[in-house]
Amino acid sequence: MKFCFADRMANMNGTATREIFKLLSRPEIISFAGGLPATEALPVKALGEICNELLSSPAAYKLLQYGTTEGYPPLTDAIIETVKEFGVNAERENVLVISGGQQGIDLMCKSFLNAGDVVLVENPTYLAALQIFNSYQAKAVGVRADENGIDIADLEAKIKLHKPKFVYLVPTFSNPTGKTYSEQHRKEIARVTAKHGLPVLEDDPYARLRFSGEKINALYHYAQDDNVVYLASFSKILSPGLRVGGAVGNAEIIRKMAICKQGTDLHTSSLAQAIAAEYCRKGLLKPAVKASLPLYASRKNAMMLGIERYMPSEFVHTNPDGGLFVWGEFAGRKLDTAKLLNRAVERNVAYIQGSVFYADGSGQNTIRLNYSNVSEEKIDEGMKALGDFFKEEISKAKN
Ligand SMILES: Cc1ncc(COP(=O)(O)O)c(C=O)c1O
Repeated sequence: MKFCFADRMANMNGTATREIFKLLSRPEIISFAGGLPATEALPVKALGEICNELLSSPAAYKLLQYGTTEGYPPLTDAIIETVKEFGVNAERENVLVISGGQQGIDLMCKSFLNAGDVVLVENPTYLAALQIFNSYQAKAVGVRADENGIDIADLEAKIKLHKPKFVYLVPTFSNPTGKTYSEQHRKEIARVTAKHGLPVLEDDPYARLRFSGEKINALYHYAQDDNVVYLASFSKILSPGLRVGGAVGNAEIIRKMAICKQGTDLHTSSLAQAIAAEYCRKGLLKPAVKASLPLYASRKNAMMLGIERYMPSEFVHTNPDGGLFVWGEFAGRKLDTAKLLNRAVERNVAYIQGSVFYADGSGQNTIRLNYSNVSEEKIDEGMKALGDFFKEEISKAKN
């Protein structure tokens, strides 16, 4: 039968993401392609106990019933408490519980975007956000960026030129680059976006995974108007499988997002929300995250060492203070990392080609590397394989 799918499916092939997941499932591959938190950091025992307690309490039936779209109030309160740490102040009417940060991006789009609208993004940015913008038939336009973050002059020029609906940013330990915007940079973005009345979607799943450097307030904190919607997520600090996060912002925007969420999933799983709320109420979140940081730090350091030892000298890369990713470019080389990926996989090592993170598909000579869920020993082995591979490719390209 010939199916007649919606126009919006025309540009949605999901190829890059499917490819990534395929790579992750082959056991012999050392994969730097993923984005998973460390398996060792998942609090299996504590969550098992909490589940038992919740389901043996007299109120258990409530957790197996439908709940409200806005969220389970104890979790709303826990989100309000946890985001304060990054200078994000909110009342209950400013918070919507969401099924992970991913849903926050989707609901923002569902609330704001018509077909043909423009969303500004940093170039490069989170791949799955680009896919969501695409699914709403919107156009993502990349703003130039350097090691400090997006170029403010280019941001302002593109606001004037494209009249975007909002700008989407990952200002702390960005996926894919690992970069963090400075305080001054956040203030500048807050100034320019307020001046032009432009909403900002601040996606912040990684801020708590800081293993070096000084804590920095969220961009939301510096907003000069109530134009920033802040997305928090429990995925990287508790469990991605629970699918729990929070959107914080202007009450009118949050109400619109809640209306959109009704049509998407009615509400986030009541049981998952109660588990996350109880984990926070017992005071387990902060110490568990703190205890996991040395593991992330030593894996990042192992990757830095591997880059130094094995990668070609042309490889210019970030050295993040937190999060899950290192980003690199083969400076001055015309390598096409997308085309080379299959051959790297034949050597049992995987990365992600950087071009998939660019709104305009550029960045052919860039890659994203993930260190969070690979042991130090495997990082060394994988970086050696990757370094040997790229050295050979560069010398072939020279001849
Ligand atoms: C920048 C960014 N936003 C959102 C997500 C989705 O996370 P969640 O599990 O909270 O939906 C990810 C996951 O990798 C991410 O890197």
